[in-house]
Amino acid sequence: MEPIRWTTRPERENLLQTAHYNLFLLPADDVLIDLLTDSGTGAMSTHQWAAVMEGDESYAGSKSFVRFKNSVQDIFGYRHVIPAHQGRAAERILFSVVCKKEDVVPNNTHFDTTRANVEFVGAEALDLPIAEGKKPELFHPFKGNMDVMALERLITKSGRHIPLVMLTVTNNSGGGQPVSMENARQVSEICRRHKIPLYFDACRFAENAYFIKLREKGYESKTPKQIAQEMFSYGDGCTMSAKKDGMANIGGFLCTNDDLLAQQQKDLLILTEGYPTYGGLAGRDLEAIAVGVQEAVEEDYLRYRIASTAYLGDRVSAQGVPIVLPPGGHAIYLDARSFLPHIPSEQFPGVALAGELYLEGGIRSVEIGTLMFGAAANMDLVRLAIPRRVYTQSHIDYVVEIILEVWKNRDKIRGLKLEYEAPFLRHFTAHLKPI
Ligand code: F0G
Repeated sequence: MEPIRWTTRPERENLLQTAHYNLFLLPADDVLIDLLTDSGTGAMSTHQWAAVMEGDESYAGSKSFVRFKNSVQDIFGYRHVIPAHQGRAAERILFSVVCKKEDVVPNNTHFDTTRANVEFVGAEALDLPIAEGKKPELFHPFKGNMDVMALERLITKSGRHIPLVMLTVTNNSGGGQPVSMENARQVSEICRRHKIPLYFDACRFAENAYFIKLREKGYESKTPKQIAQEMFSYGDGCTMSAKKDGMANIGGFLCTNDDLLAQQQKDLLILTEGYPTYGGLAGRDLEAIAVGVQEAVEEDYLRYRIASTAYLGDRVSAQGVPIVLPPGGHAIYLDARSFLPHIPSEQFPGVALAGELYLEGGIRSVEIGTLMFGAAANMDLVRLAIPRRVYTQSHIDYVVEIILEVWKNRDKIRGLKLEYEAPFLRHFTAHLKPI
């Protein structure tokens, strides 16, 4: 439980200017409702806190590692489980070991750190979402799916070396949309036929499993855990940020079935993260994750989680506010290009809209669009990510009111121009100015 603090509009105008119109640069204390991310911002359960007290901080061979590994293997099923301090550390190790310059890595859609880690080793990060996934207003039950024809074409026609294929479940940059079991099976079949390993970016695997239960024929009476187990059986490994469906405040892991790769990955891990039985985490963090991944697949929790995200989406879309439909698992994505048709992409409509939500009501969100991905952005979205087990319905009702107020006055919102950008992942530190 923590207090939240009101600010006045004049205060927020000052604060936003001081933060160079980049919400990442705001002090969290000046934010009333923080929907910047669902990553590491959830509330841990009593069982997790109790497990934290059991943390074994031995450098090598800790009991906490054994509990962590057993719990992860129970769901994910992979032979090697390598802890890391968060998802991007797992990505960096995976891509450093398997990718070379000029390689291409297909994904339904890379998230920002995934794309950056692929590009950092000189390879190309290629997004292959289905066409429906790029149209915010269009309804499709599995908008996170990969375009399997495009994948087959890339493999057979491009002549490029493909060290692995990735499937991001749920597809974060594409609106928190799920991947169907059928699509995972098809991608897996193509990969196996061409002897290319398939890895899952598994951050929100539990939410994806619950969407399959709700929407895919044949899965109605399976548990989310059984569904997740089946999905992972189609892959050869995964990267995971335990800050999402691991229900922890920090942590991640890398899994693989390949003994040789695992050895190389562990060697690299020791260089930068830590010994393979803690990987940059404290024993108590491993305990929190061991309990968290199991809580994430509990059906009562998932039912509430998915329903409460949809509650926000349904309330605003009923009033005509353009969002990515249907509502995602961890977040609602406002479609800033339709919300602000008078602001061209190169003037960052998503950043402008996110700034206005802060000015109007002290709400922090994040742009997923031209600032984050440059010209590669398929859409300009503003993500309102819901931390797990934190806000109540009355907080969300307030968010709805603020969005509707901004919607009413949308004609007055102006675009922005860049004043400073870093060479990669520029959205975290960029400085902007209203035009
Ligand atoms: N993959 C996906 C799909 C993600 O959403 C994230 C993080 C990562 C990988 C990297 O994990 O943060 O533990 O290093 N997404 C957060 C977000 C930051 O706000 O969506 P990490």
